[in-house]
Formats: sequence, C-alpha cells, structure tokens
Amino acid sequence: MIGLIVIIIHFKLPPANLLGRTMNTHPLYYLIQNSNLMRSLEKDYGTPLYIYSEKRLLENLDRLNNALKANFSKYHICYALKANSNPVLIKKMKNYLSSLGADCSSPGELHAAKLAGIDTNECIYTGNYESPSDLQIAFDSGCHLNLDDISSFHRLKKIGIPKEISYRLNPGFGRGSFPQITTAGKKAKFGVPKEDILEAYRLAKYAGVNKFGLQCMSGSGVLDVNYFPALLTAILDTVVEIQTKLEIRFDYVSIGGGFGIPYHENESPLDIETVFSDLGKIFKSYFGDGKHTPALWIEPGKYLVGDAGILLSKVTGIKKSYITYIGLDSGMETLMRPALYNAYHRIYKIGSSDNEKKLTVDFTGRICENTDRLATERHFPNSKEGDLVAIMDTGAYGFSMSHNFNTRPRPAEIILNDKSSTLIRQRESINDIFKNCIL
Ligand SMILES: Cc1ncc(COP(=O)(O)O)c(C=O)c1O
Repeated sequence: MIGLIVIIIHFKLPPANLLGRTMNTHPLYYLIQNSNLMRSLEKDYGTPLYIYSEKRLLENLDRLNNALKANFSKYHICYALKANSNPVLIKKMKNYLSSLGADCSSPGELHAAKLAGIDTNECIYTGNYESPSDLQIAFDSGCHLNLDDISSFHRLKKIGIPKEISYRLNPGFGRGSFPQITTAGKKAKFGVPKEDILEAYRLAKYAGVNKFGLQCMSGSGVLDVNYFPALLTAILDTVVEIQTKLEIRFDYVSIGGGFGIPYHENESPLDIETVFSDLGKIFKSYFGDGKHTPALWIEPGKYLVGDAGILLSKVTGIKKSYITYIGLDSGMETLMRPALYNAYHRIYKIGSSDNEKKLTVDFTGRICENTDRLATERHFPNSKEGDLVAIMDTGAYGFSMSHNFNTRPRPAEIILNDKSSTLIRQRESINDIFKNCIL
C-alpha cells in the first residue's frame, strides 16, 4: 500500500559559502544537508532508499520543453523510460506536460507508459534484435515503430506492414561519457549503418509503408554543446538524400537522448537553450519555414530524471585493509553504473561537519564480487557504522538497473514534494524474489 507521511522539508540555512564551505552547486544539496529529514526518511522507509525530488524533476522537464518551444514549431518529447520506469514519476511528468510521449524499448516499457497515462500512439518503440513476439506487441499497440535493422523489417513483414516506419540510423560515429554508452559508430551494436539506410527505406516504401520517421541515438551523457549540431547535420544530410532519391517525406526526425548532466563536481550543466537554438537554426537551413518540415523528436532519459534522484544508504562496516573500505547497505545490485562503466557519483556524508578528518576510501556494498564498488579513492570524512550517506544523481539508470544478485531484494522508492514524502514502490521482500518459483 502506498503510504503518505507528512514531514517538513523546507528549512533555512545560511548559504554554504557563509558557513565556510565551498559552495556546492548540486541542485539537491539543500535536501541532503537536512540531516533531520534524512534521518526521518531512514526511520520511516529504511535504507537503501531511492529518493526523488518532484520539484527537480519538473524543473528539468520545464527547462527542456521551453528550450524546444523557443526554437521549434513542431516537436515531441518522448521520455526514455529505460532511465526510470516508475509510473508515478512518469505520471507526474505527464500531468505537467500533457504532450509528453515515451521512448520504449520493450513490451514492459510500453506497459509502464500506459500505466502512467501515456497513450501508445505518443510512444516510439526502439528495440534491437527484436523477437517476433516483441514486434507483435509493439505492432499491435499502435506506437511509432523504430526498427534497428533491415532484418527487423523482414521479421516485421511476417506480422504486418505498418503505415509508418522509422529506422535507427548509425551515422558511423557516436559520442558518450564512456565507450560503453557510445551507441553509434563502428563498434556499436545498434542501428542501420549509413551505407544501408537508403535500401532500408526503399524496402519499406515498396512494401507499402507511406509515412516515415528517422531516428538516431548516438550515445548518452554528452555535455558538449557542439556535438548536437554536428550530429543533427549528419542526420539531416541523410534525411535529405533519402527524401530526394526515394521521393518520400519524413514526418519526424528523432535525435534520441544523450543530453548529459554533471556527475562530477567540476562539470557544468549542459546549456540546453544554446543546444536547441543551434539545432533550430540547422533545421531552418535545411527546410526553411516550409510546411513539410519534419517535427523534431527527442528521447531524453538522464536529463529529466538523473539529478532528481539520490540514493540514501547506511554504513554497515568499515574495514582498514590494504586500503580502507566503507561498506554500505547499497552495492552493485542497488546501483550498477559504477561497476558497469566505472561511472562517478558524488557521495556525501549526512550530517558531516567541515572539521572532520578525511580519509581515502573505496565504497563497496555487500556483494560477493570484487567489482562491487560504488566509488574508489574518495577523500571522505571519517565515518562509523550507522552513518548515512547520500549517493547523488541516481535518478536515471539507478533503480531501473537494480537486480537481485546474491538474492538481495531491491530497495524502496519515494518521492518528495514541498510538504510530504510518498512511497512509490515498496521495498522488495525476500519472499517477492521467490514468488515465481515452483517448489
Ligand atoms: C533509443 C534510446 N533513446 C533514448 C535513450 C536515453 O538516453 P539518455 O538517458 O542519454 O537521454 C537511450 C539510452 O540508451 C536509447 O537507447
């Protein structure tokens, strides 16, 4: 059952620089400085706990929507559900922006979109190596189909010919904050190589498809404003070539997600207004103001939910071995990104004072794998068992990548607004893990 606990979240502190600390610019720093709040959330819900700020989530959506609105007359934001598919979070965004659609990559994500009140005709479905049953579900749902390959089209033909098709273009290059999340280029498993894309649309056209989109998702976590214009130019060169050679028109062009957030202290936020103003100019240079200009679609995940979430964890053990370890009740099963990509997340001790001695430590969980690290070589205030820490920027690819290795149940999730905290997913129990076993 969803519980509602009313607590006071707003509080006043002097600015951090007046307290003699370095100014911390993280948008949720004010929340984790409220140690009374963090302790009361620990008491009410336990740890590890994913905490989302409704305020930050909607601020992110608003900023992105305004940047698009200022530069494009036709656009569509498809929130990438893979980043976080909790239907309550999606519903909050949908209620705020009624035109919001979803980017789905599995039947489960299509289901999550529906639970959140997003109609499937507002969704784009981008699978890869799609099984016939995945294609059947996506086809039947009436969503916008975005195929990963020509072979996907041949599988789809056995099910039916949709009125509209999009293909995911691999333009031959990509960019991501790690090689593992660079999703285009010669080493990426995704998309139709640019050399084959004309043939892909030719097949679709002659099979009877008469509406078209084109999509390209080239990587995640990009903070360089100059990358997006370069990507869009490559995409639009391809669009124009296909339009000319096949005499077809594109209704939409999706540049996927990839809009980064600053995970590191020394990174600056992406200037999203500049990104879309530059993209708007490029669109105009290709299509003018004509009525046949395709709509610009985007599929942001990280940008919307990433910095709206924190993971609250408790110190369970401290070990002084060849190096010093702070052991937490969160591990790679709770937050995969550090073990998967060596991703960096800021970690703060709750209730820390400036004059605490700092040690160099690795953060680990309770998992029987040596890759079970949440952070390495961090200068961190001296800590003891029972202390709380906040792991920042865990709203995207946090819970959605969590799993049950070592038979650890997945954590609870809550959302905070100005006055209250609401449980939006119960903590999994050990029994839940075994509920499908036939004994
Ligand atoms: C097809 C597609 N669209 C959108 C996204 C979301 O990317 P991001 O979280 O970088 O915005 C992804 C992420 O992998 C993706 O594969």
